[in-house]
Amino acid sequence: MCGIVGVVGNQNAKEVLLQGLEKLEYRGYDSAGIYLIDDTKQDHLFKEKGRILALRNIVRQDVEASIGIGHTRWATHGVPSVINAHPHQSQSGRFTLVHNGVIENFTKLKSMYLSDVDFVSDTDTEVIVQLIEKFSLEGLTTLASFKKVVSLLKGSYALALMDKNVSDTIYVAKNKSPLLVGLGEGFNVVCSDAMAMIQVTNQFVELMDGEVVTVTATAIKIENAENKEINRLPYTAEIDLNDLEKGTYPYYMLKEIDEQPAVMRKILQHYQGEQQQLEIDSAITETMLASDRIYIVACGTSYHAGWVGKQLLESLTHIPTEVHLSSEFGYNTPLLTENPFFIFLTQSGETADSRQVLVKVNELNHPTLTITNVAGSTLSREAQFTLLLHAGPEIAVASTKAYTAQIAVLAVLADVVGKAKGLAQNFDLVHELALVATGMETIIDEKERLEQLATEYLSVSRNAFYIGRGMDYYVAMEAALKLKEISYVQTEGFAAGELKHGTIALIEEGTPVMAIITEESIAGHTRGNVQEVKSRGAHSMIIAMEDVAEEEDQFILPQVHSLLTPLISVIPTQLLSYYTSLHRGNDVDKPRNLAKSVTVE
Ligand code: F6R
Repeated sequence: MCGIVGVVGNQNAKEVLLQGLEKLEYRGYDSAGIYLIDDTKQDHLFKEKGRILALRNIVRQDVEASIGIGHTRWATHGVPSVINAHPHQSQSGRFTLVHNGVIENFTKLKSMYLSDVDFVSDTDTEVIVQLIEKFSLEGLTTLASFKKVVSLLKGSYALALMDKNVSDTIYVAKNKSPLLVGLGEGFNVVCSDAMAMIQVTNQFVELMDGEVVTVTATAIKIENAENKEINRLPYTAEIDLNDLEKGTYPYYMLKEIDEQPAVMRKILQHYQGEQQQLEIDSAITETMLASDRIYIVACGTSYHAGWVGKQLLESLTHIPTEVHLSSEFGYNTPLLTENPFFIFLTQSGETADSRQVLVKVNELNHPTLTITNVAGSTLSREAQFTLLLHAGPEIAVASTKAYTAQIAVLAVLADVVGKAKGLAQNFDLVHELALVATGMETIIDEKERLEQLATEYLSVSRNAFYIGRGMDYYVAMEAALKLKEISYVQTEGFAAGELKHGTIALIEEGTPVMAIITEESIAGHTRGNVQEVKSRGAHSMIIAMEDVAEEEDQFILPQVHSLLTPLISVIPTQLLSYYTSLHRGNDVDKPRNLAKSVTVE
């Protein structure tokens, strides 16, 4: 989490940094700051608690600079405050630094080297900048001092450093946290994500762990940990600026919910070959066919998509599939089969919990596939194979279109591998996904009804339940996460049959219980579970698919193939969350305590 930016050689540095931080706000929004050296070599530090808008309001209009660095923070060490906000400065004020990541050995470094320094903040970052000053006072050049400090750090970091005495250079380094250098005309930039600087350049150079880079207006010099100079060509970031705007939407989340039918069609388009049949890289298919078990590893919403993926993969490929939480995998590592195949599901491609598993799996030399929305992201680069979601940038913290895109891409993968295995399939995925897109549109057209249901069921309650069986249970877990993360209603997604084994004790007069029912084989039982909670006072809502719906059900879903029902049944739950959050007066896109890209373990 946290986002960093830097620019050198651009007359409009202040605005480039502020706009860059606005684009990175999804990475954290507890506090923000920028540091500039103006054209008369005076330096200026502005820091504020809260959003970039609050920072904008305190940045002096009259400062004109062509070099600077900036930061938006998701607090790890130290509460959100102006003092803990980045950039951080060394004791003399000569060195100024922004950092994304977590330094694990900062206490040790502090006691080993800096016992005579008065620290201003509670952050791990301040140790880095004070150490740089210490080594430079001992006679090292800024670059040598920076390199020495970097070699002492344990943990994750993307760093951008400025030296007041060298007002034309930014020094950057990275380990585990993402960082790019962007090439402009007569200027250069640094950023955690290409999105932050796409308004000034689309040419970016990826940086690798352990590299230290010297960035000036006209050149970049990349050196690896062995001080060897590296030449790396830039790539073109294909990001449409319009995708980054909200347009007429009040919130990105609503825009992203509405985009889902188009995303389904885009996925079909991208994965269809010349004969209109679905295709993926044959190396992926062959490797999967050679495997005896698939391990899906993911966090949060992506983890929930993974459960649907398991069902799809087992049904269509007959390869046993397990789903694991990334943050648990390291400690609860399952007994692996002889030929495992790993799938990392990650919208951002940067999630630290997932990455640490990928690093371990790579060490074991097992085949890996990352399914991500971000081409060139860390997990994409470090896995053997990548499949892209083609969902367009997802900006709202609450994931919506990435969830459905992950399921659709997993369906394509399962379909192609199943066919390659010679398994007979009784459905045409291209046709079925096209039906899904239309079905999504039908639900999205019923926003008013869902807003009404959100008001009726969820406007005041402190807790709620989603229940379901099979695929509906997987969606119940995702629906519950969506509701709690943006509305702060404590919600559990529960296997419908499991409630009676304890949790039903929580049902009180008026507790909202939303049941998802999409299949004949489970409909009777889930309806029975609804009766059980109703007779204990629950305010029940049934969201049912056409073929199994009853007249009194509160919301009817268009019928789709049984393997694809989550793509449809999740849509009303996304809209229920959206309207509940909106009516409670929350910031729908930026819920409290969260950040979009979780780059700390
Ligand atoms: C919730 C949400 C998170 C992410 C999780 C993993 O709406 O977005 O739960 O799904 O942090 O992120 P990725 O998919 O980027 O690895």
